[in-house]
Amino acid sequence: TTPGSPKRGAFILLEGVDRCGKTTQVSLLTRHLLNLSLATVAYRFPDRTTQVGGLINGYLQSSAEVGGVDDRAIHLLFSANRWEAAPKLADTLAQGSHIICDRYAYSGVAFTSAKREEDRSSMSGGELTLDWCMCPDIGLPAPDAVIFLDLEQEEAEKRGGYGGERYEKKELQTRVRSRFAELQSLDEKDGRVPWHVVDASKSIEEVHQELVSIVTNTIDRVQTESSPLQRMWA
Ligand code: TMP
Repeated sequence: TTPGSPKRGAFILLEGVDRCGKTTQVSLLTRHLLNLSLATVAYRFPDRTTQVGGLINGYLQSSAEVGGVDDRAIHLLFSANRWEAAPKLADTLAQGSHIICDRYAYSGVAFTSAKREEDRSSMSGGELTLDWCMCPDIGLPAPDAVIFLDLEQEEAEKRGGYGGERYEKKELQTRVRSRFAELQSLDEKDGRVPWHVVDASKSIEEVHQELVSIVTNTIDRVQTESSPLQRMWA
């Protein structure tokens, strides 16, 4: 940055399995930062308000039996839904606003790669492997920190049960949780985005306080180091 130009905002991502409380925590964090007069924008993916998001919404709400949409096709729609937002994300940060984001590319990879258990052992060209799933998101603006709200499957189920959407099934959610752990290991191995795993079984207020401290430190780090925006998995 040139002297006098505003410091860029920090990009904070919240990830986790369904029912872990991400959406609640995103709005609490956003309000917290706004109360401190820090410009902050909340994002969420999928963004169901765009045309691509409308297709994703239709897919999620239809039952698994109807409409044989190929798993790769829907994966690419989720990715396209991020790419269509990417310029706006980068702009928002460049203008100095912080971003608190509910799900992103890690959800994309964790969910698609968890869909078919048997594919994991396949060496036949990599159908729905982690690698295949990561490819379309390579190069997206990367978050400065991933906050993973971790919740045991049993705890998630106690929270009023799952809704009727396609992915809200026990076995899938269990596999999703372990895919997230693999993605965390990859980031750690390659020294990329730092992950903060937070026990989401605690009370809303306790979790919120932990997140506030992580977010405060992240903003501080990004702004004192003037670190440039990174690219996903690059
Ligand atoms: P939501 O409940 O946060 O709106 O997300 C809807 C579902 O979409 C949720 O089960 C996670 C899943 N998902 C994907 O499969 N791929 C993605 O890229 C994203 C962002 C979400």
